[in-house]
Amino acid sequence: MENISDATRGFVDLRRHMWIAGIETELRRLIWQIAVTGKYISAKIHESNRKLAGFRNIYDEEQLALDRSADEILQSQFQFSGFVREYSSEEQSEIIQVGKGNEQYSVTADPLDGSSLVDTNLAVGTIIGIHKEPLSEGDKKTLVAAMYITYGPLITMVYSAGKGTHEFVLNREGEYVLSEERIMLNERGSIYSLGGLRKDWLPEHLKFIEFLEREGYKLRYSGGFVPDINQILIKRGGVFTYPALKNKSMGKLRLIFELQPMAFLITQAGGMATNGKEDILLIKPESLDQRSPIYIGSRFEVEKAKEFLSKTL
Ligand code: F6P
Ligand code: MN
Repeated sequence: MENISDATRGFVDLRRHMWIAGIETELRRLIWQIAVTGKYISAKIHESNRKLAGFRNIYDEEQLALDRSADEILQSQFQFSGFVREYSSEEQSEIIQVGKGNEQYSVTADPLDGSSLVDTNLAVGTIIGIHKEPLSEGDKKTLVAAMYITYGPLITMVYSAGKGTHEFVLNREGEYVLSEERIMLNERGSIYSLGGLRKDWLPEHLKFIEFLEREGYKLRYSGGFVPDINQILIKRGGVFTYPALKNKSMGKLRLIFELQPMAFLITQAGGMATNGKEDILLIKPESLDQRSPIYIGSRFEVEKAKEFLSKTL
């Protein structure tokens, strides 16, 4: 039943939204818990510890103390949740058993995406994938929900559990309030984000980008995957690319931790994501640290990318 005080305040909070949408109880609790964990991560960011942790992750990237803290905060939340079986993060080389073994869900995380931007005060984020089957058992297509949190001037949370993609804003009372429901991208947008150096691009990718430039697309690239994707979602279209490079045929971004959760969210918003040939969501990861080129955004641009990439130059 409608809670009168909420109705008069005129907002729908995350829990009520998921309940009305008919999302299964444990999944609702899990999404809620992750959204709350975002508040703890944001508190850590505000402590402003930008120091290097003195470690490197499995991709040989330097870890900030903040990367490790965000990872530890997430892992410790799942350890006591009662509904997460396995946790796997970009910051760790192994899948962690955080449950007893009979829980329904497993979670992947990029705990603090774009963390090298923290010192510049640009937005950073957390990317989450929620799988129905154990990550360790798998070549199955098991992503059932995805979400990201942006830590910018506002803290926002975007989630999809397969019933559209929705945005919430954290208000001063600490509640996640619905701001955009069932976000739908237009068929075509007007912005583009370009990963990788132009000198390292392959000719077919360069031709695609030249096409966008001729068409008058505006460059929008912050260097943080979460805010760059968020911009495409909130502006209702455009394309983000991190292509195959001459010296890195699989590009930079990570399939399980970054690309598939974002592909889930963008696809639920009527967009598309491809590696140039295959749908990102249909790629079966062979290893945890697998990377992939990506073209993600509204349909027109992603279809065009596929067209350009299929041409042998
Ligand atoms: O997580 C990797 C990441 O920091 C993304 O957030 C971002 O899209 C990308 O790398 C930026 O890479 P580059 O510095 O090569 O542009
Ligand atoms: Mn990242």
